[in-house]
Amino acid sequence: MTPINIDRCVCYETTFATIEAWARSQKRVVTNEDVQTEFGCGGGCKLCQPYIACALRTGQVVFHEIRCEEEID
Ligand code: FES
Repeated sequence: MTPINIDRCVCYETTFATIEAWARSQKRVVTNEDVQTEFGCGGGCKLCQPYIACALRTGQVVFHEIRCEEEID
C-alpha cells in the first residue's frame, strides 16, 4: 500500500508547515478562522480544516491518515 502524505490545503496551495509557522509567529492563539482570513485555507472544499486544527494544536504538519471533521476536537 502506498503511504499517503497530507501536508497542504490543495485549494489554496498552502502547506500546513507554512500555516503552522505563521501561527507560531503570531504570538497569540490562532484559530481556523484566522487561518482562513490570512490564507483562504479552509474556505474552499473545507477538507483541510481538521488538519489545520490539528496543526495549530500540536504542531504536526504532515499527516498519514484521513481525518474527518468530527475529529477536530
Ligand atoms: S483543501 Fe483547504 S479548502 Fe480545500
